Amino acid sequence: MRILVLNGPNLNLLGTREPGIYGEKSYGEIVAAIEEHCRQRGVHVEVRQSNHEGTLVDYIQETADGFDGIVFNPAAYTHTSVALLDAVRAVGLPTVEVHLSDPDKREAFRRVSYIREACVATFKGRGWTGYLEAVDYLLDHTAGRRGWAT
Ligand code: DQA
Repeated sequence: MRILVLNGPNLNLLGTREPGIYGEKSYGEIVAAIEEHCRQRGVHVEVRQSNHEGTLVDYIQETADGFDGIVFNPAAYTHTSVALLDAVRAVGLPTVEVHLSDPDKREAFRRVSYIREACVATFKGRGWTGYLEAVDYLLDHTAGRRGWAT
């Protein structure tokens, strides 16, 4: 089992970026927690981040090379990017959407998620632990224990 955990723009600033909304754990600490969680479950994980939409498209396309699923926080591109939606659809891997905050309870412009259409589930408003829940969901999903989220 090999998964990509992919993070979009400004998530590299976690820890100092609006901690009242996104929490005080740094990006590096969150990456370490995801890696440890996956190690305990025998999952090979690659955690990547980019501030650039095209680079995120490249990383998604690279999953065609032997990955089984994606955990994806597209950050602000959630609300704007057809290119990321198309990339996830193109590779056809089960993908779980994650947000630390709950965008549906914030400004109106955050209530649209293009990526959600291509995702089997969404974890939002749970802080950094949402990444771990998303990994577990993906494991269950790929083991055939869960269906497609409605
Ligand atoms: C976010 C929510 C987005 O609306 C925002 O643009 C982000 C982070 C989250 O994790 O809560 O950058 O994806």
